[in-house]
Amino acid sequence: MRRPMIAGNWKMNKTPAETVALIQELKKIQPKGNVEVVVCPMTVSLFAAGAQLKGTEIKLGAQNVHFEDKGAFTGEANCASLKELGVEYVILGHSERRQYFGETDETVNKKVLKVLANGLKPIICVGESLEQKQTGITNEVVCLQTKAALCGVSNAQITDVVIAYEPVWAIGTGMTATASDANRTIAAIRRAVREMFGDAAEQVRILYGGSMNDKNANELMSQPEIDGGLIGGASLVAEKFEKVVNYHG
Ligand code: 13P
Repeated sequence: MRRPMIAGNWKMNKTPAETVALIQELKKIQPKGNVEVVVCPMTVSLFAAGAQLKGTEIKLGAQNVHFEDKGAFTGEANCASLKELGVEYVILGHSERRQYFGETDETVNKKVLKVLANGLKPIICVGESLEQKQTGITNEVVCLQTKAALCGVSNAQITDVVIAYEPVWAIGTGMTATASDANRTIAAIRRAVREMFGDAAEQVRILYGGSMNDKNANELMSQPEIDGGLIGGASLVAEKFEKVVNYHG
């Protein structure tokens, strides 16, 4: 059985001080069942977050990393530093990074390999644009993104990989994919993973992201292929995030 994951992508929100305050609220959450809870603050807030989360069950994630070990890459952060701060997961290839920061399938792949080589776990984001959805090429787009991201990943590493299906048109818009559409697309992503890694695909967690919140989490999480959620806006409010974590009600 795949362990459900609820991860908060805080994006460019919460200063270090605000991060500490929100984590103090989140530490009060008592997750029901076996849900793995992850929070992904801004890079500059990871130090404060790591200190707050020490000794707790809540895992720390980063929102990006560079694919080189070190050197002349002004403004970037490396895997070794993230690890030192207690980071376990790294979101890679989020559509906002693809759209605004020139992230490509190729750079996402380099980052996936570097993250895994450092013993960190990638949360790889894939998703179609509204135009691609309307053209009817959703599966082609997300399967290509998935396979490109996983090039060169070994069979031993694939079970450390988490994938997040985030339709671009659903992010921050209040429009979610219907639970059955999300389930169907995630099943297609799993088939793509299976083509590369065989039965191990059954162990790879695939999350849904895009306007997932306290109101719709239960329905989305009831779908057999949806293993968790990558939550933006609703992860910034402790009461809402708690309801998503405890989606069983
Ligand atoms: P929203 O939940 O705000 O739509 O953001 C989703 C997302 O992009 C998570 O990575």
